[in-house]
Amino acid sequence: MRRNKKYPFAFALLLMWGVTFAQQKSKPSLLLVIDTALQQAIEQYKRMGVNLPADVLPKTYYPLTKKSETSKSSWWCSGFYPGSLNYLYEYSHDASLWEEAGRAEKLLEKEQFNKGTHDLGFMMYCSFGNANRLKPTKEYQEILLNSAKSLSTRFNPVIGCIQSWNASAKWKFPVIIDNMMNLELLFWATQYSGDSSFYKIAVTHANTTLKNHYRPDNSSWHVVDYDPATGKVNAKLTAQGYADYSAWARGQAWGLYGYVVMYRSTKDPKYLVQANKIANYIMNNPTLPADKIPYWDYNSPDIPATYRDASAASIAASALLELSKYVDTKKSQYYISFAEQTIRTLASRTYTAPVGENGGFILKHSTGSLPGSSEVDVPLTYADYYYIEAMMRYKALRKK
Ligand code: GLY
Repeated sequence: MRRNKKYPFAFALLLMWGVTFAQQKSKPSLLLVIDTALQQAIEQYKRMGVNLPADVLPKTYYPLTKKSETSKSSWWCSGFYPGSLNYLYEYSHDASLWEEAGRAEKLLEKEQFNKGTHDLGFMMYCSFGNANRLKPTKEYQEILLNSAKSLSTRFNPVIGCIQSWNASAKWKFPVIIDNMMNLELLFWATQYSGDSSFYKIAVTHANTTLKNHYRPDNSSWHVVDYDPATGKVNAKLTAQGYADYSAWARGQAWGLYGYVVMYRSTKDPKYLVQANKIANYIMNNPTLPADKIPYWDYNSPDIPATYRDASAASIAASALLELSKYVDTKKSQYYISFAEQTIRTLASRTYTAPVGENGGFILKHSTGSLPGSSEVDVPLTYADYYYIEAMMRYKALRKK
């Protein structure tokens, strides 16, 4: 090839333009990818709805045996199916999606009085919270307020936390990092009712978690067990991670999402600092593959011969897109670009199932609990929910 010696910069520019043009030709815009993915998601969820028995909610699907598993409304994931349908309705205005979400929400309604779980935020805010955001009604608002009241009964002021699981031989007052996700419901309740007690519980829980759940490297323990009489920490453990000392991938994503919500709701800069630190831990982890889908635990000794967790990737992508709005331009671009890469991977054939397969779920390859040999390398309702949310957030960001 003859080199252009007279105009080396012009030559280099031409070359760069050529490469960019070639890349653009082979890579569709992410907005186009997202529109295709959302259309496909609608098709999948419609099929899922047709095959779903009337009195239960989707849970997972086992591709090897081609068996679907469903749950009762008391399962912590029961709100994700109607929540995903609400997002898909928001995107498409297809009334049948709204109707099916409403049908599933009817099954969930009674959980507003469930004081036996800390997961009411997941269950009720992802479902009724989204329904109320799209079409507010007094009925939704009462259900949400009752749910916040039920959740608040699990708060212990001596410890400064909402209790996650009930006491057992293993622990007295376990608090899991996932619980950060239930606080959004409490902020909504204060805003709606004017009763600041919900807000105070959320802030106290987040502060206690910040103090006791995070390690110097900004990863978090999964479970912190407290002594309910003294408020002191008894033990720092895991339930779903590889080891007590390890960084369970979904736990890091829950923490990131949780502290982004804390910053949005309070504007206290210490939560923004924490969210940035967790983002840094996730994004720069040496075990993170180039496609941005983490292994199920950042410290699994079996990496790379172990399972990924698409749900952790979806949750982190959605959180990073919100976090990108609260930071300077350089950091914002960095977070958006990471989320873009994650969404592209999730939308690829490696993670997205063809329509008609995967039991109607959108994404493959999530890990529920590897130590519990439960839901390993399967689709999960919350992987789909946060993936859809991430795509909706990306579209909203690009509209501005
Ligand atoms: N909140 C339970 C989980 O993330 O598996």
